[in-house]
Amino acid sequence: MKMIEMLRESASYISGILVARKPEVALVLGSGLGDLAEQLENPIFIDYHDIPHFPVSTVPGHKGRLVIGKLEGKEVCCMQGRFHYYEGWSMDQVVYPIRTFHLLGIDKLFLTNAAGCVNKSWEPGNLMLITDHIKIMAECPARGANIDELGPRFFDMSSAYDKELQNVARAAAKKLSIPLKEGVYMLFAGPNFETPAEVRFARIAGADAVGMSTVPEAIAAAHMGMRTVGISCMTNMAAGILDQPLNHEEVLETGERVKKEFQALVREIVRTC
Ligand code: HPA
Repeated sequence: MKMIEMLRESASYISGILVARKPEVALVLGSGLGDLAEQLENPIFIDYHDIPHFPVSTVPGHKGRLVIGKLEGKEVCCMQGRFHYYEGWSMDQVVYPIRTFHLLGIDKLFLTNAAGCVNKSWEPGNLMLITDHIKIMAECPARGANIDELGPRFFDMSSAYDKELQNVARAAAKKLSIPLKEGVYMLFAGPNFETPAEVRFARIAGADAVGMSTVPEAIAAAHMGMRTVGISCMTNMAAGILDQPLNHEEVLETGERVKKEFQALVREIVRTC
């Protein structure tokens, strides 16, 4: 079966459940933000497992479902559990949900993540508006036969992070008095954290943050003309900056510490976008 037909079947299964409800924003929740999905009003839960052709995580305890409901008065569709390349998914699988959202008529994509902080003048807990990204790994979700129904073969990435939505994010941060950094997110495939040399390379290349998600989704969205906004939470200084090893516990601890602020910012952006 062709990819576009699979995507259409997935979208029509979901719209059959949603009936008249039309989500406007798709929200991908990174580490530490997942419980925002539990705060939606009048939620509808759809397990990935039940959606035809949807990738399904086999990791025990991994929440894999869409939660559709109202957040700040807006109908949103949250992914509780995203697909990472390091888990072994193909790029097509990583972006499968994003393409499905597009076919559902959702045109705004809100990506969040936990990231390592490359910028030495920042600190763990800082939030960063993603203004651009760098991908050096060869894999790309748009590689292979172009899906013409989704977008053109060659497509622009100069506004992959929508300028208007960036302004919405800036205004939201200002209103809430949340300091919001801005910078460039660089993708590494993971699952290992970067080496200190890779982090120095990232800094020289112009990156402020490194992480293992978000970029494939932003590329798929740009291909389809969806408008993307992205926020990273600097959960740790990237490797080699401090004289200490990195670990996943630190990532989770920082995520937990800034969760309230992060969630407030996400809510305000959703409200005003
Ligand atoms: N590197 C890559 N991904 C990450 C990091 C990091 O230091 N912290 C959280 N996600």
